[in-house]
Amino acid sequence: MKKIALIFSLAVLLVLGLSTAALAATNGPHGGFTTNTASCAQCHKTHTAQSSHLILFALVSGSQNDIYRTCTYCHSSTGSSHYDEVDGEIKDGSNLWATSAGGFQSMPTVEGATSYTTMATVSSKHNADQANNTLVAIPGGSSALKFELRCDSCHDPHGTQNARQLVPTVTVWNTLGTAYNTVSTIPNGAISMTVNNPTTNETITYNDDHINDFCGACHTDYLQTAVNSGSTQSGTYTSGLYRHRVGMAAAGASGYNAAYFALPTSSPAGDVLCVTCHYAHGTTAAVSSTTYANGSTLLRMDERGVCQDCHRKTFSTSQPAVVAASSYQVSATDKNHVVLAFNSYMEKVSAQTAGNYTVTGTGVTGVSSAQLQPNGVLGKTVLLTLNGSLTTGSSYTITVNTTTVKDLNGLAVSSTGNTFTFSSK
Ligand code: HEC
Ligand code: HEC
Ligand code: HEC
Ligand code: HEC
Ligand code: HEC
Ligand code: HEC
Repeated sequence: MKKIALIFSLAVLLVLGLSTAALAATNGPHGGFTTNTASCAQCHKTHTAQSSHLILFALVSGSQNDIYRTCTYCHSSTGSSHYDEVDGEIKDGSNLWATSAGGFQSMPTVEGATSYTTMATVSSKHNADQANNTLVAIPGGSSALKFELRCDSCHDPHGTQNARQLVPTVTVWNTLGTAYNTVSTIPNGAISMTVNNPTTNETITYNDDHINDFCGACHTDYLQTAVNSGSTQSGTYTSGLYRHRVGMAAAGASGYNAAYFALPTSSPAGDVLCVTCHYAHGTTAAVSSTTYANGSTLLRMDERGVCQDCHRKTFSTSQPAVVAASSYQVSATDKNHVVLAFNSYMEKVSAQTAGNYTVTGTGVTGVSSAQLQPNGVLGKTVLLTLNGSLTTGSSYTITVNTTTVKDLNGLAVSSTGNTFTFSSK
């Protein structure tokens, strides 16, 4: 399955004439055009285009709008870009890594694998994948405005000044579906983001608070930065409501403890951003729908885990435990990986210390590395790399250190829930 995907993406590369040099830059065909650019021809054909907006190629099949299908021609599991936004994953040739924005259909729950066996379906997303001419309203935005939410509502395929081609002025296909309409110009449209380790196991540094201006360009009312906004009625379109502010230092939260704080903030200020609590594309977080009619609303953690990660109000004394373990195959012949699942979000440093785990069974002498999933933050799952090889059908027991390995409440792993025995695949 993966081989076919690779061959297909190579074919797409050849058809589109993308050079390897173009792939090495993260912005790909988006922007930085010279006066004699060839880039336009990667997407457009002048007289004989196959799809709307003069797109040269035939769109991937599906009921989604034309723009979604144009972008996912390249940004999918079989497309030529490293970024598969359908599945929220980065394909670096031999591994899959979680993207920082999340996916529109599914997301990886275990990284580093080349098979799709560990994907989870998203529980909420920005619905940029609806059919042509489906108009939506913006929660916390102008009720007068309804538009087609598409990839190009947020990104300009022709590039912008920031690392994610986010538009400095939000223009959307308007209520009548006949013209572009300006929603809002972002004050200081230059959102500064740094992509670390691009197109592989990457992470994002938000260098300022302007991503809040970006989200707030549509969700106007939710962009509250005044001290004590939560005690004051505020809002442009829906007044008479109180709102949690953003743009202040997370460290100012009552109960905040840096050692157990895992959510992303701005750097170096440590300010609370919309993307501190929310993914930009989609999430696999679980919430009990009976409690929250709104569902998982792009949240980065299950239920209201985000609140506790900052405020740490009186927490449960029930210690975390291992709830599952199984051998995990990075490739068909792989015999030295195990996935261990806890029932709690784990603290990164202790969970990633290989010496905190022991494994007993035929052919295995210990653990050489431990990686919290995905991207080392917010994980309940640890991928262990073993010294030696597992034997199919043999029984193995994993034991976790009960004094050093802790969850985000700072509680050590329970001595009645620190071992798990499994039979190797
Ligand atoms: C990655 C694919 C891609 C590349 C490369 C690309 N375009 Fe586009 N272009 C699109 C898409 C998708 C649309 C329709 C959606 C939109 O406008 O955001 C579009 C729309 C346009 C439009 C109409 C809307 C507008 O912005 O005025 C023009 C003109 C245009 N492209 C010119 C160009 C030129 C010139 C180049 C080369 C410098 C180029 N495009 C390169 C994908 C691309
Ligand atoms: C012709 C193929 C192609 C199409 C069509 C395409 N992209 Fe891309 N895109 C790329 C490549 C190649 C990269 C560079 C990253 C990489 O190496 O894969 C990229 C990168 C990006 C990035 C990351 C930019 C960065 O600098 O990190 C964004 C955001 C993006 N594309 C959005 C879009 C959107 C939105 C659309 C549809 C309007 C689109 N792309 C259509 C090929 C494409
Ligand atoms: C509501 C706005 C919004 C929409 C709609 C949207 N994006 Fe994004 N996208 C973002 C933001 C914001 C980021 C950067 C988030 C971060 O790094 O935390 C991003 C990041 C990306 C990236 C970089 C890799 C990643 O996932 O982190 C790519 C590629 C991309 N988007 C493509 C797309 C494509 C293709 C679509 C349509 C299928 C789309 N986006 C729709 C806001 C949006
Ligand atoms: C171009 C306008 C636009 C921008 C920019 C935008 N959004 Fe949205 N957002 C929408 C619309 C429209 C909806 C509701 C429609 C939908 O998703 O079907 C929505 C819905 C949401 C939801 C609720 C999803 C749900 O499951 O109900 C959240 C949370 C959200 N946005 C957060 C963000 C964040 C965080 C950012 C910045 C990274 C952002 N938005 C940027 C237009 C936007
Ligand atoms: C401190 C965490 C946090 C921050 C920061 C945050 N949100 Fe939310 N957001 C939530 C939670 C939790 C929900 C679920 C509903 C609720 O509790 O109000 C939510 C819900 C939403 C919704 C869905 C509609 C609704 O009100 O239920 C949108 C849209 C949204 N947020 C946008 C934003 C934008 C835009 C920003 C930045 C200006 C932002 N959020 C910052 C936690 C946060
Ligand atoms: C990233 C850190 C962070 C997260 C996550 C977070 N908060 Fe806060 N919260 C703060 C900070 C900092 C303040 C102080 C704000 C101020 O000075 O205006 C605050 C203030 C508050 C206040 C007092 C508001 C007022 O103006 O009276 C309440 C209530 C609150 N948070 C509840 C929550 C809830 C509920 C959640 C989960 C949806 C949450 N917080 C998530 C950082 C956070």
